[in-house]
Amino acid sequence: MANVREVVKDLYWIGVNDHRTDIFERIHPIPEGVSYNSYVLLDEKTVLFDTVDFEFAPYFLDNLAYVLGDRPLDYIIINHWEPDHASTFQEVILRHPEATVISTEKGFYFMSQFNYHCDKRITVGTGDTFSSGKHNFAFVQMPMVHWPEPMATLDTTNGVLFSADAFGSFKAIDGKLFDDEVNWDRDFLEPGRRYLTNIVGKYGAYVQAVLKVAATLPIKIICPLHGVIWRKNLGYIIDKYDKWSSYTPEDNGVMIAYGSMYGNTEQVAQKLASEVVQRGITDVTVWDVSNTHMSYLISEAFRVGHIILACPTYNLGVYPPMKNFLNDMVALNMQKRTVGIIENGTWAPTSGEEMKKILDQMFEIYYLDSEVSFMSSPDENTDKELAALADAIVASVKKQEK
Ligand code: FEO
Repeated sequence: MANVREVVKDLYWIGVNDHRTDIFERIHPIPEGVSYNSYVLLDEKTVLFDTVDFEFAPYFLDNLAYVLGDRPLDYIIINHWEPDHASTFQEVILRHPEATVISTEKGFYFMSQFNYHCDKRITVGTGDTFSSGKHNFAFVQMPMVHWPEPMATLDTTNGVLFSADAFGSFKAIDGKLFDDEVNWDRDFLEPGRRYLTNIVGKYGAYVQAVLKVAATLPIKIICPLHGVIWRKNLGYIIDKYDKWSSYTPEDNGVMIAYGSMYGNTEQVAQKLASEVVQRGITDVTVWDVSNTHMSYLISEAFRVGHIILACPTYNLGVYPPMKNFLNDMVALNMQKRTVGIIENGTWAPTSGEEMKKILDQMFEIYYLDSEVSFMSSPDENTDKELAALADAIVASVKKQEK
C-alpha cells in the first residue's frame, strides 16, 4: 500500500509519520509523533530527495516504488545525513544501484562514517547547479543547521526549496501535508518551537545566515524534512525562525520556573503568578522543573522575555533540577532575557547567587532589581518582597512593550 501526495506538478511527498518513537534522539519526548518527509521528482530524470528513519523503511520503499512505477531512480539528493532521514539510504541504493548520489563533501564523509556506501556520486556545494531536465537546481550549504554537513536544494524552475531540518517541526502531520491544511498556531507552534530551539538553539547565528541567503532566493514553497510543507504563509514561519534564532522573545510574557522539595517554594511561585496577573499581565506560565521535561522548559524560555527562577538551596548550591535547566539554557546559547530570582534555604540560602553564576555565562541577561529570599517557608516579609518583585516584573514587561 502506498501513501503519497502530490506537492506540485511532478513532485510527490513519499514520507511517513512516526507515532512509535516516544523520545526523539532519546532526549526529547514526542507525544504527538513526528514526520520524516521525503520527496520524489518525476522529471526527464527521476530524483529522490532524502529518505526516512529505517524503522519505516518498508512503507517508504512502497511509496518510492509506487511513484517511480517502472522508471529507474536516476539521482538521490541527500540534503542531510542524520539517521532520522538517511538510515534508509542504503536500502534505496540496494534497490537502485543505477542511482547517482548528490551531496556535500562533508555529507559524503558522514555517509562513510555511518557505514553507508555508493559508487556513483557528485559532490556539490554552495553555488553549484544541476539539471534533471526541465528542472534546474541550486545548492546552498547550511552548516550547523543542524549538523555541519546539510545543504538546501532550490528548484529554481518552480521555487521549491528542500530545506532539510530548517523550517521543520515535531508533531506528525497525519495526512495534512500543507501549512494551509493545519491550524499551525494552535497545533504546531509549540512543537515547532520546541523542535527548533532544542535541536538547533545553540546555532542561532547559523540559522540567521541561512535566513539572509533565503531572503535573496525566489522561494515559493518550502519542503522541510519534518512537519508541514509551507506554501501559503512562508513569511509566518520565516518570522518565527528569525525570532527563535536571534534569541528575540516571541511574546512579552512571564515564565515562572520553580523547584520545590516540600512545596514552600512552589507556593511562593504560585503567589507571584497571582500577584503579576492581578497587576494586569496575563501571559504568565508556571513550571515545575522537577517534573517538566527540559525541552518544554527551553521552548517556553525562548518564547517569553521574562524568566523568574525560584528554587531551594541544595548542597550549598542550586537545586539540581533547576541547575540542569540553567545549564541547558547556557548550552543552547540562551540570551537577551530579563530574569528574576527567588531563593529558599533552611540554614544557608545561597541558591540565588549560585543561579546567577550560571546565568552570567549567557549574553544580555538582565536582573530585576527586586529579589525574594526566604528561609524554609514564606512569611510576612516574603509577601512584601513578592509584591516588590511583581511590581518590578510588570514595570519591565510594560517597558519592553513600548
Ligand atoms: Fe531531522 Fe538533523 O535531523
